[in-house]
Amino acid sequence: MKSLSTFLALALTLSLAFASDPSPLQDFCIGVSDPADGLYVNGKFCKDPNLAILSDFVITGLNERRPINDPIGSNVTFVNVDNLPGLNTLGLAFARADFEVNGQILPHTHPRASEILFVTEGSILAGFVTADDTGNRVFSKVLNKGDLIVFPLGMVHHAVNVGKGPAVAFGILNSQNPGMITIANTKVLGSNLQDFLASVV
Ligand SMILES: *[C@@H]1O[C@H](CO)[C@@H](O)[C@H](O)[C@H]1NC(C)=O
Repeated sequence: MKSLSTFLALALTLSLAFASDPSPLQDFCIGVSDPADGLYVNGKFCKDPNLAILSDFVITGLNERRPINDPIGSNVTFVNVDNLPGLNTLGLAFARADFEVNGQILPHTHPRASEILFVTEGSILAGFVTADDTGNRVFSKVLNKGDLIVFPLGMVHHAVNVGKGPAVAFGILNSQNPGMITIANTKVLGSNLQDFLASVV
């Protein structure tokens, strides 16, 4: 009897030690006390499987070059749960990035995904910076056709076309909705945050 209660206590302790909340699938999911106040799940609702259609699972045309209208010189085409609903709950997303000469994707981070970037055309200088507690080290390299780099979860990374012609890379990310925080857009010291801090001091 004593050993049974010891076993149960141990089992309970272990189950508590290993329990954790599921990771968020979107930037935030604010709790409501009453479902009548709003109805939203963490992620998307699931369609009746019998109503699934081919286009829930297929996107075509990612071989086509994208026009680049942005002064930053790149165009990123995302494939995530918003435009490929079959990705819901699968923990996967994809992207095509087109670069003109000197075009870049500014330093950014994905709060919910690690990323593999695979170059299929041109020469792209790509890299990431490690966290403060590992000394903000930079891992960066010029990648040519057939080369890839992995950006670990949450690390700030960037890519620049350093070649003499257009460049193309594809990204594979392990979240259905990786999220994207471009450091320049948050204007950390420049700054929306700075303006906010100034307004409260
Ligand atoms: C990216 O390409 C799409 C067409 O696929 C176009 O509509 C969009 O304006 C382009 N965006 C940028 C930033 O160049």
